[in-house]
Amino acid sequence: MIRKCLFPAAGYGTRFLPATKAMPKEMLPIVNKPLIEYAVEEARDAGLQHMAIVTGRGKRALEDHFDISYELEHQIRGTEKEKFLAGTRDLIDTCTFSYTRQVEMKGLGHAILSGRPLIGDEPFAVVLADDLCLNLEGDGVLAQMIQLYKKFRCSIVAIQEVPRDQTHKYGVIAGEQISDGIYRVNSMVEKPSPQDAPSNLAIIGRYILTPDIFDLIADTQPGKGGEIQITDALMKQAQNGCVLAYKFKGMRFDCGGAEGYLEATNFCYEHLYLKGR
Ligand code: G1P
Repeated sequence: MIRKCLFPAAGYGTRFLPATKAMPKEMLPIVNKPLIEYAVEEARDAGLQHMAIVTGRGKRALEDHFDISYELEHQIRGTEKEKFLAGTRDLIDTCTFSYTRQVEMKGLGHAILSGRPLIGDEPFAVVLADDLCLNLEGDGVLAQMIQLYKKFRCSIVAIQEVPRDQTHKYGVIAGEQISDGIYRVNSMVEKPSPQDAPSNLAIIGRYILTPDIFDLIADTQPGKGGEIQITDALMKQAQNGCVLAYKFKGMRFDCGGAEGYLEATNFCYEHLYLKGR
């Protein structure tokens, strides 16, 4: 079964400068919790225990976050502030964290390939922490995708309908709908202009990948923006066999930019923070 989750977290976060100049964008807080912690929680809640984080220069705060801070914990022990660290401590106690560095920024496909030594030869999940996904009504997005993987045993991408004029921000799929909200992918394009987009079904930052993807990425030439794109490697996988796209249940906030970040903050403050969740 799927045990590991890969978090590509080496990007510069240029859409959020100057906040991300010296701080990883994955450490930006939504209310009082950093984005990476929401992402790790989603993976843990989907039954994954091994967190594999692809970092880069200036990203050490990520490692420190998922480590014990003896001085701090000693300071707040027995006070009512202790509860603020309970969730993080629980993740540290129940999951393993391993790290590798992407030494050159050559795209998401390249970042995923950099994580290969941490994943090995098994299917795995990928979470992009700046896409914050929440489902207050039931299972998280990754848990939904893992259910689907158990049935189909192939790579799966999460998708969402977006307005036509937004397709240039996403990987976009087209496919044959095989059941409600599930498509068998037959076309996939990275960041197409609206007139070239095969549909308005955009990939969001949740993937289940079978390990043959690594060799496919290694054979993938730089594509859109001169970067090695996971979308291009997945398209090859779809041609060779099967890739599914899944219209998930829940909400997604693009926290890589100010608008989505603010929406997420307001939403989480009202629906999670104030309710003590
Ligand atoms: C990446 C992927 C893109 C996907 C998006 C989801 O793009 O390349 O296919 O739609 O994540 O957030 P990025 O946002 O890193 O440019």
